[in-house]
Amino acid sequence: MDAENILEVKNLRTYFKLDEGVLKAVDDVNFSIKTGKTLGIIGESGCGKSVTAHSILNTVQAPGKIHGGTIYYRTQAGTELEITAEKSNGEVMRSLRGREISMIFQEPMTSMSPVYSIGHQMTEAILVHEKKRDKATVKTAQDKAVEMLNLVGMPNAIQRFNDYPHQLSGGMCQRAMIAMAISLNPSILIADEPTTALDVTVQAQIVDLMLKFQADLGMSILYITHDMGVIAETASDICVMYLGRVVEQASTEVLFRNPVHPYTIRLLRSIPKLGKKIPGARLDAIKGNVPVPLNLPAECGFVSRCLEVKQGICDGGIPPMVEVESGHFVRCFLHSAREAD
Ligand SMILES: Nc1ncnc2c1ncn2[C@@H]1O[C@H](COP(=O)(O)OP(=O)(O)OP(=O)(O)O)[C@@H](O)[C@H]1O
Ligand SMILES: [Mg+2]
Repeated sequence: MDAENILEVKNLRTYFKLDEGVLKAVDDVNFSIKTGKTLGIIGESGCGKSVTAHSILNTVQAPGKIHGGTIYYRTQAGTELEITAEKSNGEVMRSLRGREISMIFQEPMTSMSPVYSIGHQMTEAILVHEKKRDKATVKTAQDKAVEMLNLVGMPNAIQRFNDYPHQLSGGMCQRAMIAMAISLNPSILIADEPTTALDVTVQAQIVDLMLKFQADLGMSILYITHDMGVIAETASDICVMYLGRVVEQASTEVLFRNPVHPYTIRLLRSIPKLGKKIPGARLDAIKGNVPVPLNLPAECGFVSRCLEVKQGICDGGIPPMVEVESGHFVRCFLHSAREAD
């Protein structure tokens, strides 16, 4: 592993073997997360973001399976661990999840149990990695849970401790999820669209909260979203995903200054710009949806929706990843062709 990285994903392929054929949800994906930094993964619905996150946690559900590639993680003890060589429910992965690599999800209501109070769920999450369950250990875990609820700005944390998820607003529930996710001081927080279900003001508060914890605890973050605006604010590096592949990769500064892939350019054009209202101009939404990656031909995934498509150039198989400037990679025939000129 590179010394500055905490996680490296190499040639990851995660497939679902279905009756209809092989669904390539993640198809030869490469990226790394730098220690203490945020990597943003951006792309529309269905492009393979959540399956990538589950591959890192080694929690891909059958009929899904990691078919190829490796994921390396630098543990808190300093060893380089090959996650892809571990059993999903083996001791190593179980001790890693929550304690070293933690995840917050799109929908807090679906990832928190409706039948237990949030305090109970948080306490259990803290106790999972404890060997003992005596009164004192439980009390310490409960105190820690209240402390975490206070830290994430939950008003009346002690009272909220006994509330059930349905008694909390979406924003409060998401705060409780963050409190739970960071209560064990993880090295990596995987945030899978953590603010999509929230209104913009609450969304901004949640993003600020994650950034604050990152600064305080030195956490690395994998931030998954389809919101370019949020990614601009949080990530130091960005991977743009389309149909199971990374199509463009660069530092945030470079990607916003010089987006190259037609898909990235369209994603950027779809964000409204405050104070830049051009009369008659419209936001450029990308028409259509990401196709389902089932029995796909070996071609550029974006070819069916790309406005720049060129006959005789874009129909020649899967474009290779090429470096267009230092540290800036793109998978597009228009650029590999230009490179070769
Ligand atoms: N359990 C499953 N069984 C079959 N196909 C699946 C399963 N989970 C995901 N997929 C497929 O894998 C592809 C990638 O899905 P994924 O959930 O990673 O998308 P995503 O980028 O997270 O989208 P969203 O923004 O909607 O969350 C999709 O085509 C999806 O239909
Ligand atoms: Mg998802």
